[in-house]
Amino acid sequence: MQLANQTILISGGSSGLGAATARRFLDQGASVIIADLASPDVTMVEGHEGRVFHQPTDVTSEEDVRSLIAEGENRLGPLRGAVICAGIAHAERIVGRNGAASLDAFRKVIEVNLIGTFNVARLAAKAISKHEPMADEERGALVMTASIAAFDGQIGQAAYSASKGGVAALALPLARDLARHGIRVNVIAPGVFETPMFDGISDEFRDSLIQQIPFPHRLGHADEFAALAQHAFENIMLNGTTLRLDGALRMAAK
Ligand SMILES: NC(=O)c1ccc[n+]([C@@H]2O[C@H](COP(=O)([O-])OP(=O)(O)OC[C@H]3O[C@@H](n4cnc5c(N)ncnc54)[C@H](O)[C@@H]3O)[C@@H](O)[C@H]2O)c1
Repeated sequence: MQLANQTILISGGSSGLGAATARRFLDQGASVIIADLASPDVTMVEGHEGRVFHQPTDVTSEEDVRSLIAEGENRLGPLRGAVICAGIAHAERIVGRNGAASLDAFRKVIEVNLIGTFNVARLAAKAISKHEPMADEERGALVMTASIAAFDGQIGQAAYSASKGGVAALALPLARDLARHGIRVNVIAPGVFETPMFDGISDEFRDSLIQQIPFPHRLGHADEFAALAQHAFENIMLNGTTLRLDGALRMAAK
């Protein structure tokens, strides 16, 4: 599917990887529905007036996501896909200085990263399934965001890794469920990318991550994630898989 003149929902589209995806998709001629608690930067709309819709949306809320899709389709036309990026980070050892890890924190990370992803995927897929098929009987595509922490979880990443392992595990069953509707499903597992999610980390931790990346020997640029998301829409044979995008990084324990 080519992105021009299609409407795509982007969760987490107000920052980092999601915002870069929204900008790239707008440049390709798509319209974007932004599912984010925060508003997108005004510069995203410049030059693309009438092709961006946002209302404050919590990805874990059924009501918020339903209402966003309904209003977004009213304004921008039939939904053809979703790039699901909204997520939060959390670091805590299972047994640390203050005792056992917080169960509330674990629940919260699963709620936003895994349940929020599934909530957006199911409601977007329902909307996409109602529309006419295009070339090759395709109705649309979903791209979900895991992390290499799904496979190489570091010390303190239990909650985050579990949430992202869950997202990676959704790729095949969702692709199989949605095949009858002509909807493809893929997952991108990014390595380490330069985004606001990394604003709070120490220079020491940042340097240790960069040291571990074989090539290119730097953090990823958000548009490199967006470029793969674009390809996942354009290549109809790509389905039911998780793609690592990590410069061959295999994270060590810390
Ligand atoms: N940056 C990286 O190196 C990296 C690596 C691997 C995976 N990821 C994953 O990529 C995704 C995007 O990360 P990023 O680096 O762009 O982060 P970011 O913090 O820049 O952006 C995340 C966005 O998600 C939104 N969000 C958070 N909780 C939400 C909720 N409940 N409802 C709606 N919106 C919500 C935030 O408002 C924010 O705009 C995340 O799922 C993250 O786990 C990032």
